[in-house]
Amino acid sequence: MNEKHVYIETLGCQMNKSDAERMYGMLEHCGYTQTTEPKKADMLIINTCSIRQLSEDKAYSQIGVWGKWKGKGKDKKDYPKIVVSGCVAQQAGKNILKRAPYVDLVLGTQRLYELPNLVKRIEAGEKIVSTEEKPFEESEIQINRVKSVNAWIPIMEGCNNFCTYCIVPYTRGRERSRRPELIFAEVKKALNEGFKEITLLGQNVDSYGKGLGDDPKGFIQDEEGKTINLSWLLRKINAFEGKFRIRFVTSYPTDITDEVIDTVIELDKVCEYFHIPMQSGDDYVLKKMNRRYDYSTYKKICDHIRSKVKDVTITSDFIAGFPGETEEQFENTLRAMSELELDYSNTAAYSPREKTVAAKWTDLYIPEDIKTERLARLNEHNRACCLNSNKKYLGREMEVLIENYEGVNKKGISVITGRTRNNKIVHIPCDKDLTGEFVNVKITNARTWYLNGELV
Ligand code: SAH
Ligand code: SF4
Ligand code: F3S
Repeated sequence: MNEKHVYIETLGCQMNKSDAERMYGMLEHCGYTQTTEPKKADMLIINTCSIRQLSEDKAYSQIGVWGKWKGKGKDKKDYPKIVVSGCVAQQAGKNILKRAPYVDLVLGTQRLYELPNLVKRIEAGEKIVSTEEKPFEESEIQINRVKSVNAWIPIMEGCNNFCTYCIVPYTRGRERSRRPELIFAEVKKALNEGFKEITLLGQNVDSYGKGLGDDPKGFIQDEEGKTINLSWLLRKINAFEGKFRIRFVTSYPTDITDEVIDTVIELDKVCEYFHIPMQSGDDYVLKKMNRRYDYSTYKKICDHIRSKVKDVTITSDFIAGFPGETEEQFENTLRAMSELELDYSNTAAYSPREKTVAAKWTDLYIPEDIKTERLARLNEHNRACCLNSNKKYLGREMEVLIENYEGVNKKGISVITGRTRNNKIVHIPCDKDLTGEFVNVKITNARTWYLNGELV
């Protein structure tokens, strides 16, 4: 039998990247080898994102390009097989086949683990849409992790929050927690493979544990009577042997518990880093977004974490030009970013998403030019906040986990890069590849997006 090759193009967030590692793992068991050259592949997978219109457009344009390759594959006329997975697949379902009849499989986000069965069927010539909102149970760990220092491990998926701008609850379904034993097995495997950092991943990590029993909103206890939640999980993973770091993303502001904050302080492997998207600094806009907090509540959470966790980094996400946002309301966002001294923020202009509540407020849409201009100001503010935050660490000695050896740069110097516990990127002159090692570094210079340092 000829060797079969698969190529996956992944758009979107870390959850999608993690899904791609799972798909590669499952496909390896089906006889497929990973290739980096799409033209050589017998199967092409576009792993899509629909968070904004632009990401959705990118997916369709890629599908269009691949469609033209159909019939030109090795030997057979119906090759390469084309698969659409991820959030656009979940959302558009069979409409994808209408729009692009050369697609062989539309794989919904909750059907990921059904892939091995479905692959056999599309190889036999079937066309399939599998987007049922009933999670297909994972059975064993089949995962082909991208070589790196950090392993992303999903602990929960889905979202019950229905923020009025956001498509995720429609594309990833309701919140579901993975069984602890599956998570532990994955952590163990990653550590055995040499990964030095574990990032626990979920749309809402603080919901971890909910629904593991029969009650979808309830928590269950372990055999010692302890509640199985995020802190419990962090404690268990912290107890694994060896030197490594633990992170977790993303946190919903009002769901962060004191128990989690205390866990971060107490456990040596859990890093001083919180990603807590605020979205807007204006109370009226926050209400319209269906976020369950106002500015002063967010500020209290932020101040509380900063007062308890030394050198903590707090990052956020913001949207510019939400429907109806006035100039004054937008300025409240700018003020919030500075006042809270946020260390870094992801920013985006509002993009209307089908099915979401805010997309229906067409009469309140902000013109494109104003959205673009607000986004530019937001980015300007973000840059200033990042630089200020980085300056706090000038002269300090910090532990850095090296992620990269960049070789000789334009100035003729070899550089290694890595991250501090609080997620700051550090560039260090060094002519040895120390990837995967923990080193102590003195910070010598602060730039907007990174720090410079020297080995001590
Ligand atoms: N679960 C996380 C975020 C998931 S989506 C949370 O609760 O915050 C990642 C980010 O994309 C969001 O934080 C938001 O800032 C941005 N985003 C989501 N929908 C968007 C839209 N319609 N337009 C622009 N940005 C959006
Ligand atoms: Fe989207 Fe809100 Fe859920 Fe985050 S919490 S994924 S922004 S609906
Ligand atoms: Fe995009 Fe889906 Fe992630 S919409 S951001 S790939 S959860």
